[in-house]
Amino acid sequence: MAAARDAASACSADSFQLRHLHLALSAHFGSAGSGHLQGCVRLELTCLRDRASEVVLDSHPSVKVEGAGLAPPGSRCGEGQGPQPGALRPLAFQSRPFASYGSALHVTLPEPLTCGDTVVLEIAYRAGSGPGVCWLTPEQTAGKQKPYMYTQGQAVLNRSFFPCFDTPAVKSTYSALIKVPEGFTAVMSAVTREKQKDNTFYFKMPLPIPSYLVALVVGDIVSAEVGPRSHVWAEPCLIEAAKKEYDGVIEEFLSTGEKLFGPYVWERYDVLFMPPSFPFGGMENPCITFVTPCLLAGDRSLADVIIHEISHSWFGNLVTNAHWGEFWLNEGFTMYAQRRITKEIYGAAYTCLEAATGRALLRQHMDNTGEDHPLNKLRVKIEPGVDPEDTYNETPYEKGYCFVSYLAHLVGDQKKFDAFLQAYVNQFKFQSITADEALEFYLNYFPELKKKGVDTIPGFEFDRWLNTPGWPPYLPDLSPGEELMKPAENLAELWASPDCDMQAIRAVDISTWKTFQVVYFLDKILAKSPLPDGNIEKMSAMYSKISKARNAELRLRWCQILLKNNHEAEFGKVKDFLHSQGKQKYTLPIYRGMVSGSEAAQALAVETFSATAPQLHVNVQNYVKKILGAKS
Ligand code: BES
Ligand code: ZN
Repeated sequence: MAAARDAASACSADSFQLRHLHLALSAHFGSAGSGHLQGCVRLELTCLRDRASEVVLDSHPSVKVEGAGLAPPGSRCGEGQGPQPGALRPLAFQSRPFASYGSALHVTLPEPLTCGDTVVLEIAYRAGSGPGVCWLTPEQTAGKQKPYMYTQGQAVLNRSFFPCFDTPAVKSTYSALIKVPEGFTAVMSAVTREKQKDNTFYFKMPLPIPSYLVALVVGDIVSAEVGPRSHVWAEPCLIEAAKKEYDGVIEEFLSTGEKLFGPYVWERYDVLFMPPSFPFGGMENPCITFVTPCLLAGDRSLADVIIHEISHSWFGNLVTNAHWGEFWLNEGFTMYAQRRITKEIYGAAYTCLEAATGRALLRQHMDNTGEDHPLNKLRVKIEPGVDPEDTYNETPYEKGYCFVSYLAHLVGDQKKFDAFLQAYVNQFKFQSITADEALEFYLNYFPELKKKGVDTIPGFEFDRWLNTPGWPPYLPDLSPGEELMKPAENLAELWASPDCDMQAIRAVDISTWKTFQVVYFLDKILAKSPLPDGNIEKMSAMYSKISKARNAELRLRWCQILLKNNHEAEFGKVKDFLHSQGKQKYTLPIYRGMVSGSEAAQALAVETFSATAPQLHVNVQNYVKKILGAKS
């Protein structure tokens, strides 16, 4: 396991090994988007050193601890049973401040333990609304009939779901018993799911996972089969659309992943369509990816998100970053894996086009922050007190992708590099590692590269990749995408030139373009904006495919373009888009666009935020507040 201590966790992972965790909870919906989980968490621990006298768990002020106790010696972390408070030996506990994003729960043991001792620690608690536990009103769901709750653990939010060892360095199996109100269903990131009596669901995850991958949804949800090991889950009113979007396609993604990276160990792969306020495009909870309903584009055009989350089945969920300062190990390898799968299925041209839109996002990000911003390194130093969430940006994704592509480029043979990735997964599966371990394995796997000293080639030193901010020193060749990119670039040129040649523009037929080709075109337009007066209006009239798009990736870009060109006539679309969903990567760039726009745009920002804030995830709310505050 990783040596470096995780500054974002207070837990005593050095003193105890977590062998299994069990949750026994009942979900209670309150009024107006409130609710709570009531029950207990049991931790089966093995002591790793002598004279350990307390256990420290990560927790959160929104978690009210009601009692702590030790199960009788020799008892196992009971699966299939509810809380048994009577059988416990009560323990003293104390909650202490830790950081803005959580607290530390100190539990005193009755007598100091000796290395090798095992105990079952049970914490009875109640979790209300916290950053990791979201309670939605019926109006915030697609069906508008029943309330809904979901958890989102990554990065450090699950400490508001249950007291835990909330560091990705620690992995354990888990089980859960979840009781829900009549008419509701529970799903979790687990291999086994059984409905028992009394609206109680039993879950079991027999493979070790980090705390951030434990996930729960309680809502009015149903499922439909879309493949031999896959279902889609959604509210009843969306299930048909969900099935249509992914029926028969997911298995090909999985089997291509297996061919490239080795066995898919998680048995099932389901996709759960979340309510619109879900802050991410996708979250790779094992066995069941949670996704934004924006993916229901009607034409499978946003399947890259599913391929991305599937790729985490190997990179992130099997081989995990040891702490959040090494997040690029999760996301950079996953971007590489995603594009490997995409290349196998859709070919190099499409894959390079998609990668070019990723590169454009990295460019935008580095332009916004300045290239030498400390967050523009692959390895980030997360100081005590700093919320890992606040370090989130495009660098681990797209610079990480470039670095992994560079490692492949050094090898020079795709088959050999694919074999390396399989060996890497096999070597580190069910473990948490740092970049140093990954790179040492790489150099040992390719001794001839090690001998050549590829880690110290001037300008491309591994150390520079990891520790120096800035634009990637190596960019993979995306020229196979040119057949798709060139026409989009040329058309953007035409629209941006002062003598706007409408005849030449009309000669280009974009109706056959793929979504990502249009996305690429719009990114170019955005980069060249503001366009000469009147052009946005003409463009809007000419391309209803863009200006009236329902596809979220197109709507995002069009909103950004409207703002940068101050095209007030269509500001209603900006408002509508922000009302329709709450994904962080859509919401924040649009608010940034509004606050750096005209007075009308700034007013729109304030008005829209006051109307939509309650629907947004609290982290997203806080980021928007920062953006709005920075202006005034
Ligand atoms: N694991 C991330 C989402 C995440 C990151 C949640 C950090 C919390 C903290 C997920 O795999 C992801 O990267 N999603 C992307 C998809 C995209 C890159 C295809 C998203 O949500 O946009
Ligand atoms: Zn990811």
